[in-house]
Amino acid sequence: MTDLQLRFVPDPVLRAVCAPVTVFDAKLAAIAKDMLEVMYAAPGRGLAAPQVGITQRVFVMDATWKDGTPDPQVFVNAEMVECSEEIVVMAEGCLSIPDRTSRVARPAQVTLRWQDLDGAPQTGTFTGFAAACVQHERDHLDGILCTDYPEAP
Ligand code: NI
Repeated sequence: MTDLQLRFVPDPVLRAVCAPVTVFDAKLAAIAKDMLEVMYAAPGRGLAAPQVGITQRVFVMDATWKDGTPDPQVFVNAEMVECSEEIVVMAEGCLSIPDRTSRVARPAQVTLRWQDLDGAPQTGTFTGFAAACVQHERDHLDGILCTDYPEAP
């Protein structure tokens, strides 16, 4: 059982600009494991470190477990390297903002560069729900919430 607890708006930690991870050790692996536990229990498909009070550039995602196929992913120091010109609008929820969704317009496809728990560089291209999710979680690391965007039509 993890001691990490979900933080909710207006907790100021949700507005923190998170620090890059520089140490890839067992402690980082434990944080990621605990974050996945909190995410699955919530239940959610994405969770960023500040949502459990940790101001480091880490987020986790499992875009498919609710459809029956678990695929836990951990992203450390993630940066967007490419965005599609095509924009899509999705209704986004946030575990830190209960009972609320907001329609957010974002690039339909994004390519991300990040590090895994060993510090090894990774890249991946995301579409559909996963594309919106990685952008939403990446925003959290800079203290940006989905409700900060103008509501899309
Ligand atoms: Ni969120």
